Amino acid sequence: MCGIIAFKSLNGLDVNEIIVKGLKRLEYRGYDSFGFAYPSGSEVEIMKKVGKIGDFSSEPVIAKIAIGHTRWATHGKVSEANAHPHLSQNNKVVVVHNGIIENFQELKDFLVKKGYAFRSETDTEVIPQYMQFFMDSGKDFKEACRLAFNKIEGSFAVVAMNNNELVGARNGSPLVLGVDEKNKNYFLASDVPAFLEFTNKVIYIDDGEMAVLKENSSPKTSPKAEFFDYAAGSPVKKQIVEIKWNIEQAEKGDYEHFMMKEIDEQKFTIKAAVQQDKNLIQKITDEINNAFGVFFIGAGTSYHACLAASYLFSHIAKRHINVVLASEFPNYEEFLTEKTLVFAVSQSGETADLLEAIKSAKRKGAKIVSIVNVMGSTLTRLSDYNIMMNAGPEICVLSTKSYTSQLAIITMLAYSCAGKLEEGKQIISKAAKFVPEIIDDNKKNLKELAMRLKDRHDIFLIGRNSDFPTALEGALKIKEVSYIHAEGFAGGELKHGTIALIEEGTPAIIISDSRTRKQTLSNAMEIKARGGFIIGVDSENNEIFDYFIKVPEAGAANSILMIIPIQILAYYLAVLRNCDPDKPRNLAKSVTVK
Ligand code: G6P
Repeated sequence: MCGIIAFKSLNGLDVNEIIVKGLKRLEYRGYDSFGFAYPSGSEVEIMKKVGKIGDFSSEPVIAKIAIGHTRWATHGKVSEANAHPHLSQNNKVVVVHNGIIENFQELKDFLVKKGYAFRSETDTEVIPQYMQFFMDSGKDFKEACRLAFNKIEGSFAVVAMNNNELVGARNGSPLVLGVDEKNKNYFLASDVPAFLEFTNKVIYIDDGEMAVLKENSSPKTSPKAEFFDYAAGSPVKKQIVEIKWNIEQAEKGDYEHFMMKEIDEQKFTIKAAVQQDKNLIQKITDEINNAFGVFFIGAGTSYHACLAASYLFSHIAKRHINVVLASEFPNYEEFLTEKTLVFAVSQSGETADLLEAIKSAKRKGAKIVSIVNVMGSTLTRLSDYNIMMNAGPEICVLSTKSYTSQLAIITMLAYSCAGKLEEGKQIISKAAKFVPEIIDDNKKNLKELAMRLKDRHDIFLIGRNSDFPTALEGALKIKEVSYIHAEGFAGGELKHGTIALIEEGTPAIIISDSRTRKQTLSNAMEIKARGGFIIGVDSENNEIFDYFIKVPEAGAANSILMIIPIQILAYYLAVLRNCDPDKPRNLAKSVTVK
């Protein structure tokens, strides 16, 4: 939530090229307003705007230091005054922030009493004001920042600028430093794609740490980066990590939207997901087999992958696993012991609800395995084992390719627990080969179907067994991106109430396969008998279906494939209803607040 990008450069960089472009790359984190700032003579030039950054561009301006932010509002309405950056009273300290300052009211009351006037309704503004407060009492900028970071409570990533100095700190929200040694530039950002075009060398800033970027005494060398534990004030040694992602993966290329690009990428990502170190998978398999209580937890789409895990482990590995929503997991703390194994499933590795859940599990001594896409994310650093999804950056706010990668990994793990890892990998790789035909053969059909459904108010989806999580995930995709009300049900459940909503022409998507077909189609008949318009997603057509979407049978890997046509349908519904598929209203890709 909220995106930060800032730079410090020896020779100067174009603000438009780095900050504005970087904000466009971070827009998936929040897009209700944006702003940036850079020094201009002895003043600070500030630009703020409400709305998406879209095709905004500014005149080229070369600066040696600059700071930018794209906002997902928490404290204070969406307005120019509340957009970041925020300034200290004397306009000298400029701050952008991601997260929530829980004690901001107390800090604000103190500062107001001291005569500091506030210009916004945000929690953020207390940060530059506090920095000025400490500078007014004689501290230098670095020390003023350090003291301010110790004052604020809550989760945050903060970057502050004063003259030629940039200071960043994190506590619970992501912040990463990009190092372009050749051109002597540093970048501070919420996520790597913001600066990936310029460097793939990064330093992950950990919770409780701050980075200080300042001028070197010799003008010929690069600006200096130093790291400190901001509570103790002591220096910290950091390591440069090389990221494997490339900039093409983070760009739209010939596609109109990231959503369709990422749906298409499933042609490769499902296979890439099961290319894992055998020793790692064996160790995790042993952990599962020796655990007393295995939990799968996640939020949103990742939760649906966890739900699918319960069916996959039950059928393939004959192993019971527990599935809990990340936000509800702390309520299960009493059941956790040192023998509990928790799988944390997350694309971003930054979802606050999930991180909170993991922390509660760790307090009880449970071991954590993450299934995660973003290297260096907070989750990867809290986990005992990390299974990387290898899906490349997912930019569209909706999860598509990350869902099928999660399913592929979970299916593989279930096979591994059954002692059939190689067989499982083969089944998944075989299923992955069907992806091009599912996408290419169905696109036209699905666009036509979207034309028929685009003005409907409700769409229902049903499925049994592992098709049930697909129904839930399909409904989420449709809702998130097209704003049509959609609900997923287990096949047997609709008749227990919701069938009251079926009337002439109500669309119902029926997800079935060879294992579930008989029973699910009986449920489809119940809907059809009440006038429902039946859309079948199956490997076989059936006379019950008013519309048919073919997905080849892939046995235990079915759930990986079944969601793909529904992702495409959701995409076309959004496009036909003039909704932005990449940035649906009110949403953020990485939800870093509880
Ligand atoms: C947000 C996104 C969802 C995503 C969920 C979990 O709500 O809008 O698309 O599924 O977070 O994200 P994660 O990164 O933990 O998988």
